[in-house]
Amino acid sequence: MLNLSRYELESNVRTYSRDYPEIFSRAQHAFVYDTQGRHYIDFFCGAGALNYGHNSPHLKRALLEYIERDGIVHSLDLYTEARQEFLKRFREMILVPRHLDYRVQFTGPTGTNAIEAALKLARKVTGRRQVVAFTNAFHGVSLGALAATALHHNRNAAGVQLDQIIRLPFDGFFDTGREIDYVRSMLTTPGSGIDTPAAILLETVQGEGGLNAASAEFIEGLFAVAREIGALVIIDEIQTGCGRTGPFFSFEHFGVVPDLVCLSKSISGFGLPMALLLIKPEYDQWKPGEHNGTFRGNNFAFVTAAAALDFWEDSSFLDLLRANVTQMRKRLDQIFDRFAFANVVRKGRGLFAGFEIGERTLATEIRIEAFRQGLMFETCGSAGSVLKFLPPLNIDTNLLDHGLDLVEQAMASVLAEPALVAVGTN
Ligand SMILES: Cc1ncc(COP(=O)(O)O)c(C=O)c1O
Repeated sequence: MLNLSRYELESNVRTYSRDYPEIFSRAQHAFVYDTQGRHYIDFFCGAGALNYGHNSPHLKRALLEYIERDGIVHSLDLYTEARQEFLKRFREMILVPRHLDYRVQFTGPTGTNAIEAALKLARKVTGRRQVVAFTNAFHGVSLGALAATALHHNRNAAGVQLDQIIRLPFDGFFDTGREIDYVRSMLTTPGSGIDTPAAILLETVQGEGGLNAASAEFIEGLFAVAREIGALVIIDEIQTGCGRTGPFFSFEHFGVVPDLVCLSKSISGFGLPMALLLIKPEYDQWKPGEHNGTFRGNNFAFVTAAAALDFWEDSSFLDLLRANVTQMRKRLDQIFDRFAFANVVRKGRGLFAGFEIGERTLATEIRIEAFRQGLMFETCGSAGSVLKFLPPLNIDTNLLDHGLDLVEQAMASVLAEPALVAVGTN
């Protein structure tokens, strides 16, 4: 039999398997197991695609029952029971309680495809070309979304010009602060040289860009500017959505209502590919089939996505999520105090949180040390120097604590603490 070395057949483009070189075989809730019999607490969660943990029994049961009864698997955008059930529940359990009025567009099943759809629709509705995107933004790697993505590592692979995007500073980008004043001036002052944009596209917490959390002042300011200039606001909830920052949508922290919302990653709840765009009804100006795709009807994903919405009506889930958000904040504050000497910085919001360490090599060493001790998390940020913790939202709080102990130990072993100064007795 041909004996392939592990990566012989795979393109050089692979990434996460470089950071976590083991072969993984199974996973249950907050634990991932490798073929050597080791297990790891998962603070990585498929880069935000597994907010309810791995193989949630409730979702697995729904999926197995559906497969067992030969439920339709692939259906383009034909009406299916599974599709209708998801839409019905999404309206009842998510939209109506939040007084949100959106139409749902199922795009191709990746986050980047939902972004493409949002960009196209905003340009079509307004008849304008330019879209504002921010420093350190990540919106995906297909060409339209890549133009909005700021990270050079990804942009450099485009091979064509990435344009029709106005880059403005995100909250906290300048040491001096007041980015919102700069953004407002650039978008509203005649003579700024900027064409009035179709839309302003943003993440409320920039995930890949380094867990940069926008303040209420920044978000409210952006919405006000957008209204003033007639631009749509598109919130990219692909990583922040489905409870990652606490509420189902991260924009709920601010009491604002975006015109378009992109959701993917954890919307299926089970790690199955699925993406959607929420559209205010007045902006649903698509002609049939203008933005299409073969895999807009992943019924397995509809089944688990519908079942996942049950969590949002389950008080024990909501209590646990709240307790975990509080515990995460408390523990990160304690760890921050301990490592203040190393100039670490607290980052993120809710269960989308971590530390800026300042140097890629140190952040990488901490990640590797934690992995050795049985904890998985990734690093992010344009310099790769941010530790990013994404535990399952419903992880047992003691296990969350244990994972954070491992973080603290790994930081202690890499960031040498200053020696205690001996105080003389005479
Ligand atoms: C905020 C954000 N937008 C868009 C994307 C792109 O999603 P996908 O990788 O599914 O295309 C990602 C992926 O990490 C993301 O974090």
